[in-house]
Amino acid sequence: MALKLEDIKTPIAKEMDEFEIKFRASMKTNVFLLDKIMNYIVKRKGKQMRPMFVFLSAGATGQISDSTYHGASLIELLHTASLVHDDVVDNANYRRGFFSVNALWKNKIAVLVGDFLLSRGLLLSIEHNEIELLRIVSHAVKEMSEGELLQFEKARKLDITEEVYYDVIRQKTASLIASCCAVGASSAGSEPEVVSQMRQFGECVGMAFQIKDDLFDYGDDEIGKPLGIDIKEKKMTLPLIHALSKSSWLEKRRIIGIIRSDTNKPKKVKEVIDHVKGKGGIDYAKQKMAEYHERANDLLATLPESVYKNSLTQLVQFTIDRKS
Ligand code: IPE
Ligand code: IPE
Ligand code: MG
Ligand code: MG
Repeated sequence: MALKLEDIKTPIAKEMDEFEIKFRASMKTNVFLLDKIMNYIVKRKGKQMRPMFVFLSAGATGQISDSTYHGASLIELLHTASLVHDDVVDNANYRRGFFSVNALWKNKIAVLVGDFLLSRGLLLSIEHNEIELLRIVSHAVKEMSEGELLQFEKARKLDITEEVYYDVIRQKTASLIASCCAVGASSAGSEPEVVSQMRQFGECVGMAFQIKDDLFDYGDDEIGKPLGIDIKEKKMTLPLIHALSKSSWLEKRRIIGIIRSDTNKPKKVKEVIDHVKGKGGIDYAKQKMAEYHERANDLLATLPESVYKNSLTQLVQFTIDRKS
């Protein structure tokens, strides 16, 4: 039976409710326009998987504390900031089933809103003297910008390799999920070795998470954000990279040619998608996702049994089974 986030949340239901209140409070502002946009954003909250990873990692390795709440808010603020900016970068007008901030208020406003969310996160950690959490998370923020820029560089040259693809997703997505688990463990008073192990666990989960996200782009399920936009934005992800590695020189030239100059023609885009499927690109990406999943589970296996560990295992399974 498919796992539901609501059920996975059971051991931390109380914490997540309290988190929600604190998270909203951290977005308060006296600027009318900004306040309106903040309300719009909190009404359309996402899956909140990152705060779940923070609380479950804390519970699985020690004691959930005030710092755990600070860490969860800090990370969800940065995550939200990164999505607001990402939709500008990706020209995406749809997020979480509704219009994106840039679609409703334009890019100029969305850039400033993203900056506001980022600075609220940084201030929140300073206000509570959470230097260790800030240290862990700042690293991820740097990595996320680098990852997005590396992806841009490769989209321009259309020469991304499988290895570089892993570098991109490790930086732009896995680094933040790694931070969730490290922050959770650290906030619970865990030893540095445990924090480091949880960071590695989160990184594997994050890799599987982004491979799954990139697979969505090839599907036709309603997921609350635009589909088929990676190819249009010349973003080459694992299924396509693999398909190209299995293609003849001529096939490669044709596909790259379409991506370079014909992505505004739906028929041509469909040809790329069909080619990727035909060359087993989807199956290959699924297999790689399963490998990261397994590595994540191996890293969890050494933790003592608990309801938190159990939920973490389920949350990793959810990461690869999810429908949005
Ligand atoms: C989307 O993350 C951004 C990626 C790293 C792919 P989520 O799918 O966790 O986004 P929300 O918060 O649930 O909308
Ligand atoms: C993930 O990038 C978002 C960040 C890491 C900031 P994508 O562009 O692949 O994510 P979606 O599909 O828009 O959520
Ligand atoms: Mg992007
Ligand atoms: Mg995007």
